[in-house]
Amino acid sequence: MHATTLQNSKPELKRVEREVSRAVAMVKRGFHKEKVVKRLRGGRGLRPELIYEVARCRLHAREKFGPLAEKLFFDEEGLRYATPAVVAEYRAERLKCDVIADVSCGAGAQLVFFAMRCRKAYGVELNEERAKLAALNVASLGLENVEIIVGDATGDAAVKRLKDAEVVFSDPSRPPGEEVRTIESLQPPPLKIVEKYQRITEKLAFELPPQMPPERVRRWLAGEKEYTSLNFQLNRLALYMGELAECDVSAISLPSGERVTSEDAAAELEAADAPKAFLYEVDPTVVKATLLRNLLGKLGLEASVLSEDKRRTLLTSDEEASSAFLRRYRVLELVNFGVASIKEALKRLDARKVTLRFSLPPSEYWSVRKRLEEGLSGERWIHLFKIKDKALLAERLSPEDQL
Ligand SMILES: C[S@@+](CC[C@H](N)C(=O)[O-])C[C@H]1O[C@@H](n2cnc3c(N)ncnc32)[C@H](O)[C@@H]1O
Repeated sequence: MHATTLQNSKPELKRVEREVSRAVAMVKRGFHKEKVVKRLRGGRGLRPELIYEVARCRLHAREKFGPLAEKLFFDEEGLRYATPAVVAEYRAERLKCDVIADVSCGAGAQLVFFAMRCRKAYGVELNEERAKLAALNVASLGLENVEIIVGDATGDAAVKRLKDAEVVFSDPSRPPGEEVRTIESLQPPPLKIVEKYQRITEKLAFELPPQMPPERVRRWLAGEKEYTSLNFQLNRLALYMGELAECDVSAISLPSGERVTSEDAAAELEAADAPKAFLYEVDPTVVKATLLRNLLGKLGLEASVLSEDKRRTLLTSDEEASSAFLRRYRVLELVNFGVASIKEALKRLDARKVTLRFSLPPSEYWSVRKRLEEGLSGERWIHLFKIKDKALLAERLSPEDQL
């Protein structure tokens, strides 16, 4: 298969931008797709339907890209898989080098951050339209050090073009709806990328499905498995190979940048009989990375496990500690898990609002919460947890209250 370099998009940028802005205005005014598409002229070989898609994505891209969204071009799939700006910036800083190649660059969300950190960045993309969007994103941000190649990254033609890459990075597509994530179904296949690019560089890095536990990754590839948390949620799993690896497993919390690794000495962790003064909710990222004991060791926090299920791990301790990987609460009361006893406790505690922090069907959340909040006239905001057959009422300590 051929590997073609895309022309610089700078000359067409203004015209395409004008078309996208027209489409955004029409979408905002509630025009139907057919009407918008009919009035568009397209641009830079982009179909009017794609311009319409770009316009719709502009309206949703703010969540991932903040104010930058107004300058960016995405198709729907490209936006769904685009790396959020905070993560892309971190990844680019960690992979900073002279020449980097992003061999499955999509619409280029990660690529533009690589270009801001490295002297030169290559982007390879199989889908020609998405590659054009990546070129528009590069031009829109005024970057002049990017070469975008349309083609199959596993083909010899592409490999030959990237001979001067110091780091090769790939964030492959995942087929939707797979029950257990495996490495074989990713596109381009990471094992094939390793086979093809190892001759050029040992410094390879991948984004893998974050639900994969470390031992499953280990079966296929060696290197540092870095689980990334964004705002207390598991967001990404990166694999760093060769000299890029700094340890076996790590977890990073963004935006704070706090990190824990398998090199941090692990603390003991036992089951708790009863809640102590503080309750700690653990970021699921640390649990997935199997680094909870290392985190406690690093913090010097003596804690025990109060409850653990698929969604939530709760620790308890008499000690106070501050970490971006832990949400801290002050334990207030433990009562029977029944509406009457919970309501009595809420009144005693001068509550006004109650956040439910146990698993229940989403459709029932607000009706249960409303029932518990009915008649409350106090001041405090209580968090309600379920520990076996008991209700634990606690108060969240904001990061400013911590230590
Ligand atoms: C998950 S997306 C990348 C998103 C990108 N990291 C970002 O932040 O915008 C993966 C991309 O890989 C592309 N792809 C799949 N197989 C490929 C191949 N063999 N060569 C090059 N690109 C490929 C897909 O078309 C898709 O756009």
